[in-house]
Amino acid sequence: MSRRESALEEALKIREATKETVPAGGIAEAAVKQPDLPRFDIGEILVDFARVNKHVVCITEPHSHAAEQYKRIRARILKSTVKDFLNTIMITSPDMGEGKTITALNLAVTMANEIDYTVLLVDADLRNPSVHRYLGIEPEYGLGDYLMGRVKLPDVLIKTGIGKLVILPGGKPPDNPAELLSSERMRLLVQEMKLRYKDRYIIFDSSPVLVTADPLSLGGYMDGIVLLIQAAYTSSKAAAQAISLLKDFTLLGTVFNNVPHYLERNFYSYYYQDGKQGTVKKYPYGKRA
Ligand SMILES: Nc1ncnc2c1ncn2[C@@H]1O[C@H](COP(=O)(O)OP(=O)(O)OP(=O)(O)O)[C@@H](O)[C@H]1O
Ligand SMILES: [Mg+2]
Repeated sequence: MSRRESALEEALKIREATKETVPAGGIAEAAVKQPDLPRFDIGEILVDFARVNKHVVCITEPHSHAAEQYKRIRARILKSTVKDFLNTIMITSPDMGEGKTITALNLAVTMANEIDYTVLLVDADLRNPSVHRYLGIEPEYGLGDYLMGRVKLPDVLIKTGIGKLVILPGGKPPDNPAELLSSERMRLLVQEMKLRYKDRYIIFDSSPVLVTADPLSLGGYMDGIVLLIQAAYTSSKAAAQAISLLKDFTLLGTVFNNVPHYLERNFYSYYYQDGKQGTVKKYPYGKRA
């Protein structure tokens, strides 16, 4: 059995196990009914813009065409989530290196900057945490440490100085990420964050859904999922498999990333598509550069 097939099998098992326990929207209802939590002080690491990865265009080139596209995605996400209080959103993609983290970061920044929302960006890619790397910061602890009970929540939340953006970095990679992400501690953490950041947005950067079971472990705790497709790289078969794996979750839409200029004119669906099941098109172009 290939690596991808065994990941798929594992993923399907975890999806079966998680979908019954935490129905989508269940947490939202619980959060609404509960009282406010006491405030706690969180740390601050001011991001040095000179150290930020150039593809985080919402920081490095906020007036660029690319940054404008993230605002459009933001508008579409707000439109489809505000009314029903869907504020926990996970970004995943079929394969590795398709731009999940860059997209999660740009979305979080554009939301935190432009609408003045408090946005919490959680690096839930415990195997390869990279949110902090793209921001050029070196936090001591993160989600993995919290889930293993090494630190408390205020110790891992970091104000960035970018609008009202707070991040929860990934921390030290653990041995059992899928189990940690589907653990009761994770469920309670999402619930607490929903409560702390109610009427705000919590964006979860995740790992590839065809390679690891982690997004399906976490998906059960999310209000909505955004599926990223690398326009000239992801095969239609991989995209269809990813959509099929995610079918029990609320798929908010599909983002087409890294769309070459020569394709852009034909992308009426643009970088982001509405709808429960994003339409998948076939692009016979080679691997990404
Ligand atoms: N729109 C884009 N234009 C150009 N380069 C991009 C774009 N999006 C991502 N990249 C580049 O592609 C590479 C992979 O991006 P990123 O780390 O966001 O992918 P990922 O899907 O999170 O990867 P992984 O599966 O390893 O977590 C990085 O070098 C990033 O700078
Ligand atoms: Mg990533």
